[in-house]
Amino acid sequence: MRTDFLPFSKPTISEDAIADVCDSIRSGWLAMGPKTVDFEKKFAEYTGAKFAISVNSATAGLHLAVMAVTQPGDEVITTPMTFASTVNAIIYAGAVPILADIDPVTLNIDPKKIAEKITSKTKAVIPVHFAGRPCNMDAIEKIAQEHNLAIIEDSAHALGASYHGKKIGSGKGPRRIAVFSFHPTKNITTGEGGMITTDDEKAADQMSVQRQNGMDKGAWNRFGAKGKSHYDIFIPGLKYQMMDIQAAIGRDQLKYLEKFNKRRTEIIEKYNTAFAGIDGLTLPAPIEKGCVHSWHIYTPLLDSKKLGFTRDEFMEKMKEYNIGTAYHYQALHLFSGYAKITGLKKGDMPVAEEIGEKIVSLPLFPAMTNEDITDVIEAVTNICK
Ligand SMILES: Cc1ncc(COP(=O)(O)O)c(C=O)c1O
Repeated sequence: MRTDFLPFSKPTISEDAIADVCDSIRSGWLAMGPKTVDFEKKFAEYTGAKFAISVNSATAGLHLAVMAVTQPGDEVITTPMTFASTVNAIIYAGAVPILADIDPVTLNIDPKKIAEKITSKTKAVIPVHFAGRPCNMDAIEKIAQEHNLAIIEDSAHALGASYHGKKIGSGKGPRRIAVFSFHPTKNITTGEGGMITTDDEKAADQMSVQRQNGMDKGAWNRFGAKGKSHYDIFIPGLKYQMMDIQAAIGRDQLKYLEKFNKRRTEIIEKYNTAFAGIDGLTLPAPIEKGCVHSWHIYTPLLDSKKLGFTRDEFMEKMKEYNIGTAYHYQALHLFSGYAKITGLKKGDMPVAEEIGEKIVSLPLFPAMTNEDITDVIEAVTNICK
């Protein structure tokens, strides 16, 4: 039995990043500045998008993205298998969230279900690349083209993933926006933080001024040696910028992304091999050929009838082994607030509801040691066999 608790996720931050944060603090330039601009440039290079716009969370990025491509009253289709932010962004942009059920194998939004939900008011779709597995973008793009919809890819889980040779967030395609999260559990972190990528210049302009209260110039253009203090406000905005303190971590993290994701893949391969024979445990489906999974989370499904205990009981048993787990996600419409807003009830999204009862996230982060992996494997195997 482990003596220390193994959390379900933990970031790895280098000493260089810590030194660069200290440098920002000592320099007096803590808020958005040259390091943020540098991080955006490097992020755009990595994804291949024309524009990378940093923000203080993916939630903020999603809000800006929905505001950029919809008008109040428009309908936006998304998945019930997501974090609250995806739907909150739609609601706070004044649009109407419409949920479409998921595919039981990929756990991503089912394109057929998107097609069924389209009305004359539908203006955008937000596929979420669940766990880091790319959605069926060919089918989603086809629907979007037919109905002139914008696509906002909630890529909070998907940094480093790619779809048929194209990096998630490469921005290609009309009115196409991707939003990444740098929360500490994500593939790279800045503490809190996020990044929007797009090739759409009009949307990029709007999102980039709206993240700084609508001002046409950021503080770093006003208070620097060559700055001019006057500014215009094009459009009312919000305070959603990233700080240089965060960007100092982010630009360093980006250097390690491929290494981090390689280690994540190694870990899930060990899990897949070890758990293959356990009756009652459904492992994540193999990744579609030509795609790269970023393995933000590893989410087997537990069949309580076969195993004799529920997912929640399993999570409690893992705690007895000193191992943390997590739960992504309860089908969104089952939360009381969203039930009211969407008018949906239990039984309306059967696939997401069933998955929501069976799913669990096991520990997965690059700094896990081989001993940590063995501990998880032993605990899961002992509990399930
Ligand atoms: C699918 C999804 N979308 C959006 C978000 C919001 O990200 P952030 O915490 O950076 O606002 C999360 C965060 O966990 C998420 O998992």
